[in-house]
Amino acid sequence: MVPTIEWKNGIVSMLDQTKLPIEVVYFDCKTYQDVAKGIKDLIIRGAPAIGVAAAMGIALGVKDIKANDFAGFYIEMEEICNHLGSTRPTAVNLFWAIERMKRVAIANKEKPISTIKDILFEESNRVLTEDIAANMAMGKHGSQFIKTGDTILTHCNAGALATAGYGTALGVIRAAKEEGKEIKVFADETRPVLQGARLTAWELMEDGIHVTLITDNMAGYFMKKGMINLCIVGADRIARNGDAANKIGTYSVAVLAREHGIPFYVAAPVSTIDFNIPSGDHIPIEERNPEEVSHVFGKVQIAPANVNIANPAFDVTPAGYITAIITEKGVFKPQDIYKLAPGH
Ligand code: MRU
Repeated sequence: MVPTIEWKNGIVSMLDQTKLPIEVVYFDCKTYQDVAKGIKDLIIRGAPAIGVAAAMGIALGVKDIKANDFAGFYIEMEEICNHLGSTRPTAVNLFWAIERMKRVAIANKEKPISTIKDILFEESNRVLTEDIAANMAMGKHGSQFIKTGDTILTHCNAGALATAGYGTALGVIRAAKEEGKEIKVFADETRPVLQGARLTAWELMEDGIHVTLITDNMAGYFMKKGMINLCIVGADRIARNGDAANKIGTYSVAVLAREHGIPFYVAAPVSTIDFNIPSGDHIPIEERNPEEVSHVFGKVQIAPANVNIANPAFDVTPAGYITAIITEKGVFKPQDIYKLAPGH
């Protein structure tokens, strides 16, 4: 797979996912504001990838801080963090990465500013490499649920493109394929931004994994025909009780899966679990530009001008609909996910 995001000669280079699958081009970020724009405009997207981008954005931004004492340095670092933190509200990995970078800065506050900058750069690399390792571990834990001959339905893109590499839901699918299992994937196109059609279909085809693209409203049809064996999706934020926010439409897939007796798995790293919130009711849901619904890519208008539009980007699947949550630390019943909380 082409890298989702990487350091290139001191700048942050991200694969421009708004251009896929038509063009494979990179968006080069010379400033932390460029990184924030990349996150906000979905040039990079997917909860873990957003977290990695934020860590790299902070490391990039602090390079230009002129302050020579820690207090002055930290004030400016917080401004950078606030700017990056204002980009997208739902994926908790963004705030997880920001808090991690702040903790590292504070833990090293006695060191020279130039050393703190180097340490933050190293930390951003660790966030990236740990994410790939977590995804591969998730793949190993999750592939037990997939057997030869299975067809797996997924929603949105929870693949290499949504992470630093390998993917969460698609990581589990990749691992099954690497174990020699013959599998097929059905990818929901994922209206309105079409992450399934543009990204999941492209990513799986690049990797030689059999994929069939369907529109979102076809999922029930194929489940009823007995053509789907299991569903695996990613998550943007999982509450302490196991409720999981993911791309809008995930909840409908979970309800359909329940109706048809099909297992429904969520694959996500521990960095996606928000141990501070008791349930999914507390997850902030991003409301995006109505043009995503009224137009196809801001170009072709498909609805009457000025029609009322609602465009929530995520929904919450209650824990009761989730068969299990696959993490890098093992597989958990949703109601047991709180056991992963630090210090539990
Ligand atoms: O709006 P997006 O494209 O950032 O939404 C992404 C999703 O909903 C993914 O399924 C989720 O972040 C999990 S990614 C491993």
